Amino acid sequence: ISIHPFNTFGARQNTSYFLRISDIGGLQNFIDNKGFELDQIMILGGGSNVLFTKDYNGIILKNEIKGIDVEKENDEFVWLKIGGGENWHELVLYTVENNWQGIENLSLIPGTVGASPIQNIGAYGVEVKDTFESLEAFELETGTIKSFTKDDCGFGYRDSVFKRHLKGKYFITSVTLKLRKTNHAYNTSYGAIENMLQEKGISELSPKTISETVIAIRNSKLPNPEDIGNCGSFFKNPVISTEDYKSLKEEYPSIPGYVLSESEVKVPAGWLIDQSGWKGKVIGNVGTYEKQALVLINATGMATGEEAWSYAQEVKQSVFKKFNIEINPEVNII
Ligand code: EPU
Repeated sequence: ISIHPFNTFGARQNTSYFLRISDIGGLQNFIDNKGFELDQIMILGGGSNVLFTKDYNGIILKNEIKGIDVEKENDEFVWLKIGGGENWHELVLYTVENNWQGIENLSLIPGTVGASPIQNIGAYGVEVKDTFESLEAFELETGTIKSFTKDDCGFGYRDSVFKRHLKGKYFITSVTLKLRKTNHAYNTSYGAIENMLQEKGISELSPKTISETVIAIRNSKLPNPEDIGNCGSFFKNPVISTEDYKSLKEEYPSIPGYVLSESEVKVPAGWLIDQSGWKGKVIGNVGTYEKQALVLINATGMATGEEAWSYAQEVKQSVFKKFNIEINPEVNII
């Protein structure tokens, strides 16, 4: 079965089996009928953060569990319980229409709600952990549903327990977010948001105006996977020591950096890749996006995952050679 339609990079690979899961009963049924090993199972959401570098020799379960329900509310907050298979951006639009505040900065992020906590999706100063209340997940090994609080999830920058020791063990059936109905607390700290608000002459902030602003920014520098195959930021922004940052700054005065602590600075991988001469460069079917070097693209639409992976290795090596900094994939490499 071709997984080409199910990964936004558009890698032309196959899987042995492919199953759509639209309710917990279906999942239970599948587990009860065993006849496979757990390590043969892979769970897929929107396929926007994976790169298949070869065919998948196993079973792909696609999360299609739907539903958006108000679990509870008071004067100030609403707790929304969302099916793991809901589309993230559609959820954002729905909350914005209701004037609920909290995830408007995360507009236009591709993928599903169930995948959002796995790598703690983030953009423009906000991460999903900021509004996260809890999630429910089906444990593949035992066939039981477990609840996870925010602490249980161990969120970090593009990280959670579901990328570490619990990787591949849970199918996230629902996520509950706590959003503000009143006393909105917008995050416009990110320079690009301020600039775009000014450019568009927006002075009145609302979830909707911020969402529109973020959509405009993202459209101006990130490729739409429907037009050009990609999986968003391909690498994570590396964290280096303050010392190393200072010496790099002497050599490259324009190097951006985000101070994390007294001893650590996060450097944009996009800048490093750009400076290494990769921006807009296409080799065979793969390239980096001309407006944002952090995004690898399926330039011709014909790229295999293998080709993309070898391109990524070359990018990584050349950044290491020039800056002595190791950059690592943000994307799940299969
Ligand atoms: N830069 C360059 N050249 C480039 C790209 C970036 O010089 O080709 C410089 C920019 O000028 C800027 C800095 O690098 O000074 C940072 O760029 P940007 O603000 O675009 O953010 P980013 O670090 O590249 C991160 C996230 C994005 C998120 C944006 C906005 C990661 C790995 N990526 O990108 O997330 O949308 O911030 O908050 O943290 C994603 O995860 O798929 C994703 C798109």
